[in-house]
Amino acid sequence: SEIQATKITWHEGTVRPEERRALLKQTGATLWFTGLSGSGKSTLAVALEQVLIQRGHAAYVLDGDNIRFGLNAGPKILMDTRGYSETQAKRFGLAFSAEDREENIRRIGEVAKLFADSGLLALTSFISPYRKDRDAARKIHESNKAGAIPFIEIYVSTAIDVCEQRDPKGLYKQARDAVAAGKGMGFTGVDDPYEAPVNPELTIDTGKYSTAEGVAMILEYLASKGLVN
Ligand code: PPS
Repeated sequence: SEIQATKITWHEGTVRPEERRALLKQTGATLWFTGLSGSGKSTLAVALEQVLIQRGHAAYVLDGDNIRFGLNAGPKILMDTRGYSETQAKRFGLAFSAEDREENIRRIGEVAKLFADSGLLALTSFISPYRKDRDAARKIHESNKAGAIPFIEIYVSTAIDVCEQRDPKGLYKQARDAVAAGKGMGFTGVDDPYEAPVNPELTIDTGKYSTAEGVAMILEYLASKGLVN
């Protein structure tokens, strides 16, 4: 299909970032959790969100529930719940190919930036297996029009054997079985890549630290940057 010429112009708002900061009594930022399936990203993000809210900070978790069932729904969900035709579902749905993961992370990077620009602490919890995609999300934050937004990459470094032992959704088993049957499933860490962060702001191994300890480590980091009281 032909790409139509679009004419769009940027419309500047008049509310300044300082006004938002004064209203919410905080600086917006994105905390980007990355790690294998079952590494504990969502557990940490959800626990942190709770503590932040208790301390009077506006925080919001973006994860599979509100993204891969909504904005970035897969083809099947679009067909089952939105009445999309198969053609539309294939065109607009996002699954787990490298390309779809890239687009998934690109959109999440943009959405997190909007949340953070509005003054919230955005907590994102996605495998985000490719370094270049995470770096692109960071760049979106750094080059924000109204001024750079803090982007804190938190590598949830839990070893794969620990993740696999947890296997909350039975997906590691499915993936191993698929590989044994010579089919493969493209599951991260089993037969699909995970590129560990090189320079994350924080690294937390949930095989070694409890959720409460992990949350405390993050809060300490945020306090050192003046992002929490
Ligand atoms: S990604 O790579 O960042 O786009 O993935 P994400 O949006 O975080 O989705 C990961 C969750 O989807 C389930 N799932 C898979 N994960 C990895 N590889 C494949 N092929 C796959 N298929 C389904 C899996 O339950 C992940 O859940 P979490 O919460 O990470 O354990």
